[in-house]
Amino acid sequence: MHPTNALGSPVPRREGREKVTGAARYAAEHTPPGCAYAWPVPATVASGRVTAVDGTAAAALPGVIGVLTPFDAPRLGASEDPTLQLLQDPRVPHRGWYVALVVADTLEGARAAASEVRVTYASEPHDVILRADHPDAYTPDEANGGHPGHREQGDPDTALSAAPVRIDCTYAVPPLHNHPMEPHAATADWDAGRHHLTVHDSSQGAGPVRAALASLFKLPEDGITVVSEHVGGGFGSKGTPRPHVVLAAMAALHYGRPVKLALPRGHLPATVGHRAPTLHRISLGAHADGTLTALTHEVTTHTSRVREFVEQAAVPARVMYAVPDVRTTHRAVALDVPTPSWMRAPGEAPGMYALESAMDELADALGIDPVELRVRNEPASEPDSGRPFSSRHLVECLREGAERFGWARSRAPRHEGPYLIGAGVASATYPVLVAPSTARAHARPDGGYLVEINATDIGTGARTVLAQVAADALRVPVGRVAVAIGHTGLPAASLAGGSCGTASWGWAVHDACAALTARLGSHRGPLPAEGLSASADTTQSAKQKSPYARHAFGAHFAEVQVDTVSGEVRVRRLLGVFAAGRILNPQTARSQFKGAMVMGLGMALTEHSTVDAAFGDFTENDLAAYHVPVHADVPDIEAHWIDEHDKHLNPMGSKGIGEIGIVGTAAAIGNAVAHATGQRLRELPLTPDRVL
Ligand code: MOS
Repeated sequence: MHPTNALGSPVPRREGREKVTGAARYAAEHTPPGCAYAWPVPATVASGRVTAVDGTAAAALPGVIGVLTPFDAPRLGASEDPTLQLLQDPRVPHRGWYVALVVADTLEGARAAASEVRVTYASEPHDVILRADHPDAYTPDEANGGHPGHREQGDPDTALSAAPVRIDCTYAVPPLHNHPMEPHAATADWDAGRHHLTVHDSSQGAGPVRAALASLFKLPEDGITVVSEHVGGGFGSKGTPRPHVVLAAMAALHYGRPVKLALPRGHLPATVGHRAPTLHRISLGAHADGTLTALTHEVTTHTSRVREFVEQAAVPARVMYAVPDVRTTHRAVALDVPTPSWMRAPGEAPGMYALESAMDELADALGIDPVELRVRNEPASEPDSGRPFSSRHLVECLREGAERFGWARSRAPRHEGPYLIGAGVASATYPVLVAPSTARAHARPDGGYLVEINATDIGTGARTVLAQVAADALRVPVGRVAVAIGHTGLPAASLAGGSCGTASWGWAVHDACAALTARLGSHRGPLPAEGLSASADTTQSAKQKSPYARHAFGAHFAEVQVDTVSGEVRVRRLLGVFAAGRILNPQTARSQFKGAMVMGLGMALTEHSTVDAAFGDFTENDLAAYHVPVHADVPDIEAHWIDEHDKHLNPMGSKGIGEIGIVGTAAAIGNAVAHATGQRLRELPLTPDRVL
């Protein structure tokens, strides 16, 4: 490696010290002088409308500034997202929908007053339970991400009935919640003339927040500044603007004071999205040698009455295996539930749980090793589109993973005392996405550089990796490059989502730095005091349609022990191998892979939200009830990758890595449980009551 070439080095994250010393300030930690505090009031019925809000008792409490209701709140402008039309009409589309907002001098005062607000409703019957045979289920034209709702090639039904070996199984993934460590929070501050709004928000993209606020408050975008400097995770729940930031800005405008609104964790489940439950039916047909002849994957999911959101869980089956006759389809039912939204690897995470469990069942039915079955169905091009893959190293991931894991040895089921031990495998895939971004690079006379881009670091190490990309393009040591991100005053860039941050922002940073290098190369003599700058805009290159199908791939291997007395499943070992293009920083990349694998472990064993049939929302509303894995649940995890060189991506040759680690993990663990026990469980999570 060139001594100044930082790309590919394990550079420690730049804000690490600030974070562990508490110096890094998050959205709720900005307190302008005179700041007031807001606390929203959630609806306690699942369907109907508000007939009256009595804020008298609340307003009488000390320090209360006011109570906003659907009948008197300021009117908002348009928004693409109807969940942001807060306090605009008395309709209640789901339990937990905000029906009032209390503003007070202190946080405690606002919270106490919120509990004194009396809301009366005309409630209506609600329907919140998803069933595969729900009479209102329909096939949407599009599932999320613009994917067609329904795809069919050949005649899968005939091919299935003719198949020498076939399986037909149903799987269920419950609603899941993102629960980032930092709950959603915003501080909003208008200038004296109310021409300019400044917001600190915990968001995956300050740009989209600004765009939404501009429309809602009828301001030009340059009349709003949004800062998202440090973000304590989002996992998709901060990918779009959320109610808290709109309510904070609304209250600040109405009362003429800065207003802070930090959502209590208990409000998150109904307010900031969830992974919708998915019911899967998968049929696979195969020849005796394991070659697939037919595949059908039918997904039924829920959406809300407010906004259509269709978890695209049948989409990965369009990418994975060579099958001549195939149907992949989605059905949605609009229920009186909170609006589902993005959660890490939306579509792929639940879809690949089902598909990769089904592949394991087929391997069992055929008596073929599950690694081998996957290898035998490797497609020459993307099955659904026929496009060539820009790169695809799934087989290499499976082979290297099997080798590192000791797969052959681990396939003899065994027991140790009361424990049954088993091993499972599953594939992973995630699309390579990229979005237009702009960046500016600046050379100072003292030899330092500044790179500016409105990227967001949600805990991934984006700042650090962008400094590496810049240093590489500038051919200078990474320590000479300062990076400014997380502010709408910086050059516009895409949000941190779809695992496309590094590719999108890195491309713009690379181009700006390459342009600056060229300018510096033709510059004679010392730099003027103001230095030299260059900008880049990747709109054209990022929007260009690729003739290639671009995806990352991976393979997970899990070893579990199943306690035959308690029914408890524990993961003993978890190992993933990924093919995700060039890995730009092995340290931060490994953290992302491992973090996602832990989240997949949670999906397999502990995490679930329950739609309460009686009340209509989720029963788990804190981390005592919603069980994310803790240290004691997480074994030794290994994340590896293969050296992948793909020229059809971006100047860095990188694929996204934020989401693929959760894809297939739950299937690998479920397959290991089936291997250990000989019993197939098809509903997540694999809690002791189900295992026993
Ligand atoms: Mo991620 S669910 O694309 O923010």
